[in-house]
Order: sequence, then structure tokens, then C-alpha cells
Amino acid sequence: MKVIICKDYQEMSAKAYEYIYSVMAEKNFECILGLATGSTPIGLYKNMVADCKAGNVSYSRMKSVNLDEYIGLPITHDQSYCYFMRDNLFDHIDIDSKNYHLPQGNTADNEKACADYTALLARMQQDVQVLGLGSNGHIGFNEPFTPFDSTTHIVKLTDNTRQDNARFFASLNEVPTHSITMGIANIMNAKSVLVLASGDNKAKAVKAMVEGAVTEEVPASVLQNHKNVVVIVDEKAASLLRK
Ligand code: GLP
Repeated sequence: MKVIICKDYQEMSAKAYEYIYSVMAEKNFECILGLATGSTPIGLYKNMVADCKAGNVSYSRMKSVNLDEYIGLPITHDQSYCYFMRDNLFDHIDIDSKNYHLPQGNTADNEKACADYTALLARMQQDVQVLGLGSNGHIGFNEPFTPFDSTTHIVKLTDNTRQDNARFFASLNEVPTHSITMGIANIMNAKSVLVLASGDNKAKAVKAMVEGAVTEEVPASVLQNHKNVVVIVDEKAASLLRK
């Protein structure tokens, strides 16, 4: 694991884009990006949009897969992850809408949605998977004690995660109770992984991910077993790491 500590969120987002750019350039701008939602990658997405608008990068040959989606929200709901991705990235770059994929959270058959997404991921290995970090160490929506060999599955969200995400909804009651997420095995299959974390509330999870035991109790700790992981964090998120 390579850990890069940045002064603040802005520097973290700039470094994150430098890394993503290097992956895209190495593949001649024809690669598969694994993308994440949450507030953490928004700065990275702003940089991707700005550089695309400046004419420096084209996404016309790029594809993407997203980590997760809430169950039960229509994709037009402003808190669905599909809406989030369009709003923060896809609608502002030249990616073809046929080329971005999220797990389906609003279908009649959730088991089929899981199997379909796992099959899609088997055809689309991520050149890089971007990850945020839950304050309890979750990645995607893989909550503590998710088996490391899991593939796409339905998750009952923990109270901790629902409370963390309640800030985006009118009230806690409106936060969905379930989600669909790439499994940990699907994340570990990426050729490289970029983890981003910012702020004091991520410091414990960052320490557990980087320096703690590899245990299913802390999903992100599995990344210690991956050959190519870059962790880019700001000083607050890094504050509990041994210097
Ligand atoms: C959500 C998402 C995760 C994300 C995490 C952190 O639960 N499912 O993929 O990484 O929250 O979110 P934030 O970046 O807003 O702290």
C-alpha cells in the first residue's frame, strides 16, 4: 500500500486526478474506470470534468462501472447513485451513456440484478477502482463482516451508515434500508485501487485499513492483500497513522 498524505481536500483531489490521469494515459484513454459515490470523490470528478472541458482528455472510448446503488430509489431520485454520477460527472464529460454501468437498485428481481452485475464485472475488469471509505471501514456498501470472497450482493445497511448518509436526505426515515453493492472479491479484482479519505471522521478507519489487522471486521483492511493500492488522504484523515 502506498500512502500519500496531502495538506487538505483540494490537494487530495488534485493528486487523485493525477493518478487517474496516469492510468488513463497509460491505456491510451481506452480503459475501464471503477467509480464511487459519496462526498469524497466529488473534487476528483470536478478535476476530471474541468480537464475534459479544457479538451485535454476524451472519455469517448472509456467505460465505467460503479460500486453500488441504493435499493428502492428510482434512478431519477436525486439521492440515487445513478443521479449522483450523472450530476457530478457523466453529464459533463463525453462518455457514451451506453458505457457507464451501475448495479440496478430498482428492479423487481434483486437476485437477478446481483447476478447480472457480477457477470458484467467478469467482462469488465477495472483498470482502477476508486474507493471512498465508510467511517466504519466499509468499502462500497460492504459493511463490517462481509466475507472477503463476496461478489455483488444485497446489503442491509448498518445504523451507522444510515446515520452517516442521513445528511443527504430530509430525515433518517427516508434513507433506504438496503443497497446493492459490488462484493469485496469484485473490488479486489481491479488491477489497481485508489482509496480517498478526508476529514477527522475517517481517521480511525484509515488507521485500521493501513495499520490494523486484515480482518472482515474492517472491510477496507483487505486492501493490504492487494498488490497495487494507492491511498490518498488529507492530514486530518491521516492524523492517527504512525508517522
Ligand atoms: C457511502 C458509499 C461509499 C462511500 C462512503 C463514504 O456509504 N456507499 O461508497 O465511500 O459512503 O462516503 P463519503 O465520501 O460521503 O464520506
